[in-house]
Amino acid sequence: MSEQEVFDLIIIGSGPGGYHSALRAAQYGAKVAIIEKAPSELGGTCSNWGCIPTKALVKSAHLLEEIHEIAPDLGIMVGNVAFDFAKAVERKNKVVSELRTGIEGLLNTRKIPIHYGFGKLEGGTINEGFTVSVTPKEGQKTFLKGKRVILATGSTPALIPAFNIDHKKILTSDDILHSDFKTLPKSMVIIGAGVIGCEFGNIFRRFGVDVTMLEYLPNMIATEERLVIKELNNTFDEIGVKLHVSQNVLKVETTETGVKATTCDASVPRDQTESAEKFTYEADICLVSIGRSKLTKDLGVEELGGTIDRSGIVVNEKTRETGIPGVYAIGDVTGGIMLAHKASYDGDIAVANALTSIGGFDTHAREANYRVLPATIFTSPEIGSVGIRENQAKEMAKEKGSKIYTGRFYYASLGKAKCMAAEQGFMMIIADAETDLILGASCIGHGAPELIATVSVAMEHGITASKLGHTIYSHPTISEMVLEAVEDVHGMAIHKAGRRR
Ligand code: NAI
Repeated sequence: MSEQEVFDLIIIGSGPGGYHSALRAAQYGAKVAIIEKAPSELGGTCSNWGCIPTKALVKSAHLLEEIHEIAPDLGIMVGNVAFDFAKAVERKNKVVSELRTGIEGLLNTRKIPIHYGFGKLEGGTINEGFTVSVTPKEGQKTFLKGKRVILATGSTPALIPAFNIDHKKILTSDDILHSDFKTLPKSMVIIGAGVIGCEFGNIFRRFGVDVTMLEYLPNMIATEERLVIKELNNTFDEIGVKLHVSQNVLKVETTETGVKATTCDASVPRDQTESAEKFTYEADICLVSIGRSKLTKDLGVEELGGTIDRSGIVVNEKTRETGIPGVYAIGDVTGGIMLAHKASYDGDIAVANALTSIGGFDTHAREANYRVLPATIFTSPEIGSVGIRENQAKEMAKEKGSKIYTGRFYYASLGKAKCMAAEQGFMMIIADAETDLILGASCIGHGAPELIATVSVAMEHGITASKLGHTIYSHPTISEMVLEAVEDVHGMAIHKAGRRR
């Protein structure tokens, strides 16, 4: 082993957590190797089966929506519009493949070897370094040696036996985003109205599919702001997505013509569902989007003294170190909030701490802080949020004996939004009445995911609501939504009737 090349850092998994960490560590001059199951997986869920392919389809869906709903008002008569789903999928595949090549190029440029195969921790310690095996789909197992290891293996769609996922008619989001899924169904049932369910519900409804959604909780996208949920609910109603909430889906089966989902009311106790009144929903296909399972299996974590629990690989949230000193874990595999940008942020923290512990790099130890973690949902209208919701803020204020102010501004009152025919939605910003610090923001409407970034910057750096309002925003822009919403925190929005607080 002594003759073997020793890497400073070995990273298992090349998603937005893993490849980001590899590039970051290489920027600091570390000698890095990355392990990925197969070339088709380079870039992970985000690039291949998640953020990127869905957003490519969202573009087709959004353009169709604009042609149908907005173009005539803008004097553009398109006539009969044909939609070729296979063509949209081909474009989506091209986007995915170009990005994958881009990631490969970046890793090559930074001289980071990519080892294709299943990575596993075989042994070692922080003092001696670690041995990691790489088992390719075909061919010989090889071994790498590294001073530190980052586990970034991600997650996969959750499979429930009762849902009989056959990957043909009863599908996961991976199946729907497979490069060969090119036939548009006439109808689909979506189980779970969370982020994935709602994004696909919107896409396929805009493509003309008859969409039924079944959700266990009383609300879709339940963690979002109450008024945001209401707005999306209304839109889904208007466009004809049939959303059934408080539905406990008991089973899904294939039938001769398609699929059938059987539910009962979610209030029925689990041991009484057999005798409960049943409801059935039939369609051509079914998408199961009820959350994701963490890929923790066979990584060798527990053998080396690390812990895996229901939420994934257990880490010190602040340092990202696992129970094995010198081994870090980031992103979806550690559970919690599963977002690509959170995985990349975790990666920055893990790299800083790993390299600092080795010594000799221009890094310093860092502690993670997730107070300002924006989230986005690419439905139409789009949604962005950061920090806490109004109800949470009110409760916290009550406990502290303080007060909050909420500013709210509607797209319909903004000049640029009118010009863009994008008048739906609003932005709200919540601030502590005493300190004027921003506690959270939610936005639904045109460009919401982009607008929320400005508020995130303010929150991260302690820029108060007043200061955010004392910034010059270019006119006419959609970014003025932030200006008006934040000025409304003090009742000072220019384009809204209100009283100064
Ligand atoms: P999710 O946790 O967001 O939603 C799952 C939904 O399914 C929940 O509303 C839950 O109540 C419901 N559900 C669970 N079991 C059910 C049952 N038996 N019957 C009916 N409903 C049931 O999970 P999702 O949508 O699968 O997304 C997975 C992860 O991927 C999330 O953490 C999400 O944040 C992330 N993601 C992020 C995106 C973005 O940033 N734009 C896009 C897509 C996914």
